[in-house]
Amino acid sequence: MNDINSVVIYGPGVMGASMAQIFAQYGYNTTLLGRSDKSIEKAVNLMDINQDSLVKAGHLTKEESERIKKSINFTTDYSCFNNAQYIIETIIEDMEIKKDFYRYISFAAPKDCIIVTNTSGLSVSEMAKELKYPERFAGMHWINPPHLVPLIEIIKGENTSNETIKTVKEVCRSIHKKAVVVKKECAGFIFNRLQYAILREAAYIAQNGWADIEDIDEVVRFGLGMRYACIGPFRVADIGGLDTFEKISRYLVPELSKEENIPLLTETVCGKGGYGVKNGLGFYDYSNGKDKEAIAERDKRFLEILDKFYKEYL
Ligand SMILES: NC(=O)c1ccc[n+]([C@@H]2O[C@H](COP(=O)([O-])OP(=O)(O)OC[C@H]3O[C@@H](n4cnc5c(N)ncnc54)[C@H](O)[C@@H]3O)[C@@H](O)[C@H]2O)c1
Repeated sequence: MNDINSVVIYGPGVMGASMAQIFAQYGYNTTLLGRSDKSIEKAVNLMDINQDSLVKAGHLTKEESERIKKSINFTTDYSCFNNAQYIIETIIEDMEIKKDFYRYISFAAPKDCIIVTNTSGLSVSEMAKELKYPERFAGMHWINPPHLVPLIEIIKGENTSNETIKTVKEVCRSIHKKAVVVKKECAGFIFNRLQYAILREAAYIAQNGWADIEDIDEVVRFGLGMRYACIGPFRVADIGGLDTFEKISRYLVPELSKEENIPLLTETVCGKGGYGVKNGLGFYDYSNGKDKEAIAERDKRFLEILDKFYKEYL
């Protein structure tokens, strides 16, 4: 680990751009690689927006922000893999495209290089089948927006070595992130299994007309969210009284959604071309600048929470 002082991030999208600024901030020699000049341009714009909110909140000075941005090596030249020590793949969430990359990188990267994927929940072991040295490969799942959310899930694939897990943990520590290891991989890991269980149930409540989406969001923000920012579901149950939780679970769990789909998401919104802030139409309306307002408001609140509760992860 002491030898790792540089990273190559492949995929200059929402996640890659934000990761690059963190590694640069903590002194890593950082390369952000994209397939085209256009994708790099997009990343530079995203980074400007991210850095602006950090400067406005007083987390970085303008000078520090400029230094961070200038220190990043933006490139479309794949030879940056030749001497890589630590590669993060954060390209499109598509198993076949990711596998193509792993077939290529297996030969392009040095054999002692650590390689990680930022997949949201695809099988790390399946990707590792394409690698010559699968023991040096793991999942490193960041949460959006990476420059503000402290958590990183580290996923141990079937052939990932303990040494690799230890190194990825050390990398997380060096960039002030909270690492949690998923010791045996499962689809969606921990974060997305929990997130999608809530999204499915939230959509089920709305689909059945039991409450409006605005009110469901408020219940999470002012109730569940506040609890879970401080203690997890097992601690909540312990403190609430397990006998009471047990009684409720007996009549309520059979009532919860068991749908294999989320029709409100796939049909009502996505099916009509709504992709959220990306194109202005989602569960809420983001036309006429409301997209930027929503992101700015989110970042402001996340920064307030970081300041108050997670100072050591700044
Ligand atoms: N957005 C999130 O909330 C989030 C959170 C955690 C993890 N992730 C994961 O991070 C990865 C990237 O997601 P994102 O949100 O940054 O996506 P994005 O769409 O913003 O960026 C994807 C990047 O992949 C590149 N790309 C597209 N097709 C490609 C191909 N055929 N070959 C090589 N590169 C290609 C694009 O140019 C772009 O730079 C995915 O695996 C995703 O599941 C996303």
